[in-house]
Amino acid sequence: MTQRIWISFVISLLFHSFLNAQEDGKVLYAQCAGCHGQDGKNKAFGRSGIIAGQSVKDLIESIKFYRESEFKAHGTSLVMAKQTKTMRDQDINAVAQYISKLPK
Ligand code: HEC
Repeated sequence: MTQRIWISFVISLLFHSFLNAQEDGKVLYAQCAGCHGQDGKNKAFGRSGIIAGQSVKDLIESIKFYRESEFKAHGTSLVMAKQTKTMRDQDINAVAQYISKLPK
C-alpha cells in the first residue's frame, strides 16, 4: 500500500517537472523572440541561422558556446553572449526543447 502511494507520488513529481519545463521554455523564449522571431524564423541581425526546428543537441551546443565564450570584440556573437550569460543549464535545456518543437 505505502509503496503504491510512493510510486504515484514520484510519478506525479516527474510529470509536474515535465510540464514546468515546457512552460519555462515558452517563458524563456519570450526574451529571444525579439531577434529570432516569435516563430523562430528570423535571421537575427541577418547573421544567425533559422533556429526553429533545430535539434535540441545543436541548440544546446550553440547556446552553451555563446554562454561560455568571452567575446572581447563587439560583434554579433557578443550580442548572443550577453543574452545567455545568466542562463542556467536547465534554462538552456528548456528553451532548446521549446525551439526544437517550433515548425521549420
Ligand atoms: C538582441 C538580439 C538577440 C536576442 C535577444 C537573442 N539572440 Fe540569438 N542570435 C542573435 C544573433 C545576432 C545571432 C548570430 C550571432 C553570430 O554572429 O554568431 C544569434 C544566434 C543564435 C543561435 C545560433 C543560430 C544558428 O544556428 O546560426 C542560437 C541557437 C540562438 N541565437 C538562440 C537564442 C536564444 C535561445 C535566445 C534567448 C535566450 C536568443 N538567441 C536571443 C541575436 C539575438
